Amino acid sequence: MMQRGKFIVFEGIDGSGKSTQVKLLTERLKAENHSVYQTFEPTNSPIGSLIRNMLYGRIEGDEKTLAALYLADRLDHIQNTTNGMLKYLEGGKHVISDRYYFSSYAYHVPHVSLDWVVEANRICAELLRPDLIVFIDISTETSLERLTKGRSELDKFENYERISVVRKNYFEAFKRFEGIENVVLIDGNRSFEAVAEDIWNLVSPLLTE
Ligand code: ADP
Ligand code: TYD
Repeated sequence: MMQRGKFIVFEGIDGSGKSTQVKLLTERLKAENHSVYQTFEPTNSPIGSLIRNMLYGRIEGDEKTLAALYLADRLDHIQNTTNGMLKYLEGGKHVISDRYYFSSYAYHVPHVSLDWVVEANRICAELLRPDLIVFIDISTETSLERLTKGRSELDKFENYERISVVRKNYFEAFKRFEGIENVVLIDGNRSFEAVAEDIWNLVSPLLTE
């Protein structure tokens, strides 16, 4: 029987280096002949596009509507029969996702309560719980420095107050799920290579289990 792939999630505040590290890890795994599917949330499905349009103010949407849309996007991301994550995992591929439900725990509080987001996402946890969640931790200052350097357009979440709250919310959520979710913190205030090496040392033993 085909062995199910592992599901690895990257989390962190904006600019923490998630996309960079997801890409580096995927390339290294492929170079070692692992079968890998790289993905992200919000996705590029119609629901994900709607979310991005709201983030950039092209379509009106309040925080509660957004919270519900992220959940819908995630359910589709898990279950879609064409390109859903379960399909790849069951086909033996490892799946690496830039963000998953801890992003909802971190970004939607206090607009909705943590209890609500956790309860709403229970269906996702039951369908697909990550084998490993890598949290790349950087300071709020580093986050803003990196974001202003890299882009011309900042989305409506990208300011000091908001990012500090998000970082605090992540830690609260990790405490709540201690012993339930496999979260590993990585210090992201270091070079690309140092961060990548720590991630490799975490992930490679997991994939050969
Ligand atoms: P995220 O996906 O978490 O928002 P990115 O990987 O897009 O983060 O990185 C945000 C910015 O920070 C990019 O310009 C990237 O080149 C830079 N960056 C990422 N990791 C590091 C690092 N370890 N040191 C310095 N700059 C970094
Ligand atoms: P992302 O595409 O990772 O950001 P970037 O544009 O920096 O690459 O995510 C877009 C935004 O969506 C980001 O600010 C975090 C937010 N988000 C939520 O609010 N809730 C969620 O459930 C997810 C997955 C993301």
